[in-house]
Amino acid sequence: MKVLVVGGGGREHALVWKLNQSSRVSQIFCAPGNAGIAKMARCVDVDPKDIPRLVDLAKAESIDLTVVGPEAPLAEGIVDAFEEAGLRIFGPSREAACIESSKVFAKEFMVRHRIPTAPFRVFSDPTSAKEYVREADRPLVVKADGLAAGKGSIVADDCQAALEAVDRIMVRRQLGAAGSRVVIEEKLQGEELSVLGFVDGHHVLLMPAAQDHKALLDGDRGPNTGGMGAYCPVPRWDRALERRVLHEVMIPAVRGLAAEGRPYRGVLYAGLMLDGEDLYVLEFNCRFGDPETQVLMPLLGTDLVSIIEASLKGRLRYMRLRWSREACVCVVMASGGYPGHYERGKVISGLEEAESLPGVIVFHAGTARDERGQLVTAGGRVLGVTAVGKTLGVAIERAYRAAGRIRFAFAHYRKDIGFRALTG
Ligand code: AMP
Ligand code: GLY
Repeated sequence: MKVLVVGGGGREHALVWKLNQSSRVSQIFCAPGNAGIAKMARCVDVDPKDIPRLVDLAKAESIDLTVVGPEAPLAEGIVDAFEEAGLRIFGPSREAACIESSKVFAKEFMVRHRIPTAPFRVFSDPTSAKEYVREADRPLVVKADGLAAGKGSIVADDCQAALEAVDRIMVRRQLGAAGSRVVIEEKLQGEELSVLGFVDGHHVLLMPAAQDHKALLDGDRGPNTGGMGAYCPVPRWDRALERRVLHEVMIPAVRGLAAEGRPYRGVLYAGLMLDGEDLYVLEFNCRFGDPETQVLMPLLGTDLVSIIEASLKGRLRYMRLRWSREACVCVVMASGGYPGHYERGKVISGLEEAESLPGVIVFHAGTARDERGQLVTAGGRVLGVTAVGKTLGVAIERAYRAAGRIRFAFAHYRKDIGFRALTG
């Protein structure tokens, strides 16, 4: 079958890489893709948010199945549009994607369905939001209601920082319409965990937990980014915790969405905070995580097309997923300046040498070919240097050995991805 993947980052490269191994797949298209994806798929220069053009592309190329990476097209109804056109697509409808596209919806939904989450208040005017912040006078998190490409949540350790966050989001409207309402919630302590599940409307098949590293610098310092690396498995993830996440978070969410007339099909991502025995949902995402997908796909033993088809047919209950017992680590190499304004067009070298090392797969995020055909940087996150190994220690060593072979001007990456799991 012919498959179309929508998106062009490291997550989409990992999906294309996995789909490319399926005996069911004859050709892969990717919109827009990147220079790494171009080795396995036909990249078509269509914006992931240009839904009418994507529908036309899928029709013109007789695409049998479309898989969506990023949240923006899901929030704008790509699944609804494809289904209306009679095209098969994997992801939630616009209504179901509200679990990510509106923080206010997600928080109120969690309360309705008794899913544990930080206590919060919703504000639609800055004056009352600021009044609340001043009275609370304790660490808070200020979150814009709408999608903000990972920039919508500001952790404020003091009153001044929270006031500034309200100002930026609601008064200066730095995130545009996403900031017409805010959620202000208690700041939680603990360890973050990403748990993703395949969902068919009723049934959930969990993937093993992964951990993302959102902060820019070693030791979780510096500003938040889209994710500087990930690893899997997470030592704390055992049967008991898996059961709790399934029964306290995922099943109530999927049942709740169905009961509210928004049946969920696709990948549901729960961003969790674990504090001792306490478990809270920080956020839901309506898609595969990035960079989590780069460490999950290499460990997935089951054919991805079969899982997606079972999900689309409502038959996940008859399916069992096979996972490798090995570990996987992804180190993100970023451009100078990221997560702020960053460098582009820097020549990348050493990739072939890195890729020839045992267990190493380099997923491309922001790469392109220049007019001379050279591989150059084209995004903030440039590469996801990924390695599989028998243990987490081996995977970490392999990923860093590979990253050390790759060069581009102003490259930077964290040196401590996965270390938290080794030191306990
Ligand atoms: P969100 O957009 O809700 O996922 O938040 C982005 C990041 O902000 C999370 O991954 C956490 O690192 C942090 N965060 C969000 N909510 C909280 C909270 N209630 N307490 C502490 N940190 C939080
Ligand atoms: N890893 C964070 C995200 O995908 O949203």
